[in-house]
Amino acid sequence: MAFYETAVRPLLFRLDPERAHDLTVRASELAGRSALARRAARRALAVDDPRLRTTFAGLELANPLGLAAGFDKNGRAVGLLGALGFGHVEIGSVSAWPSGGNPRPRLFRIPQDGGIVVSYGVPNDGADAIRARLDAARPAVALGINLVKTNDPARPAVEPDVYEDYAASLARLQDRADYVALNLSCPNSAADRDFFDDLPRIDRLLAALGEAGVRRPLFLKLKPTQDAGVLREIVAIADGHPFVSGFGINLPAGKPDTLEIRSTPRDRLAAMPGAVGGPPVEALVNDILATLYGIAGDRYALVAAGGVASADGAYRKLQLGASLVQLYTGLVYRGPRVITEILRGLVERLERDGHATVAGAVGSAAR
Ligand SMILES: Cc1cc2nc3c(=O)[nH]c(=O)nc-3n(C[C@H](O)[C@H](O)[C@H](O)COP(=O)(O)O)c2cc1C
Repeated sequence: MAFYETAVRPLLFRLDPERAHDLTVRASELAGRSALARRAARRALAVDDPRLRTTFAGLELANPLGLAAGFDKNGRAVGLLGALGFGHVEIGSVSAWPSGGNPRPRLFRIPQDGGIVVSYGVPNDGADAIRARLDAARPAVALGINLVKTNDPARPAVEPDVYEDYAASLARLQDRADYVALNLSCPNSAADRDFFDDLPRIDRLLAALGEAGVRRPLFLKLKPTQDAGVLREIVAIADGHPFVSGFGINLPAGKPDTLEIRSTPRDRLAAMPGAVGGPPVEALVNDILATLYGIAGDRYALVAAGGVASADGAYRKLQLGASLVQLYTGLVYRGPRVITEILRGLVERLERDGHATVAGAVGSAAR
């Protein structure tokens, strides 16, 4: 077993989950300032293989694996995170103004299922502070910046304020990003979460951003739905805005029946407010991914996160149509070695299936 799982995780798991998260980010921030630490991390973890190289929305990436939004909400740790072997790192969600998030406790572990329950409510320092931080340190890999509406009861989710909120953070941050993701379903207050259920609002948001000027590939991180009609409508809306490069899928809010909970008692789970990340969402996300790929095909790039903690899980998402695969919860349970394990495993699987590159495997399950 790796050092992380035997020595580090038991210590971190003794702490309150949010405190453990803060400590990890702070330690990563400090380590990231040292060129020596970055070099050591890269040497220990990175897998440099030409078969893993891939193009995504015009970006040349070393591999298709990335860190999902939510770990480094404030862009503090990009120095180290960019040296762990990921092909890209997505920070945020970031809002135009600082957001305090929801009351604590707002982060929980469900170790029996290898999952996390999260109701952070997108606490973050706001676009200006994060822009200044990114001017001081940039990752050595592609950087995605995930944007969300400010979570502040004084700024309710109403038109056109919501669009202006996204436009303000886009204007402040897009020049610091290689791509921008719009978090359209943040599970914080119900009003914010459900705002874009009225799909024409997505169209109006994109129109407002287009008018303000979009200079980076833009991704829409959608509220998960298995309704193909809704997905078709969203893709049709995106078709009207050529700067949209693709889609991602967020966590479902609450505890829907589609979650695959194997061992955590349901009453325990019900007592934890928030959305579940990790293996319990893998089947749901994969199902939506396959549907979305069937609709969007190769016209759009899909970025998929949800329960990836192994090479098999990451490869499956590529086969179902994802161009990029991300993880968060798997890193919490398995530590940074999981990155190396997944990348090596992807090379083996590409070779086994006769794909010269990652692109050959993308969507292969649908052919
Ligand atoms: C603690 C935590 C915080 C998250 N915060 C955000 C966020 O701020 N913005 C966002 O778009 N997604 C956020 N996510 C969702 C992740 O980016 C990812 O889509 C999801 O967790 C599925 O991947 P996983 O199963 O590998 O964790 C968060 C997830 C977790 C577990």
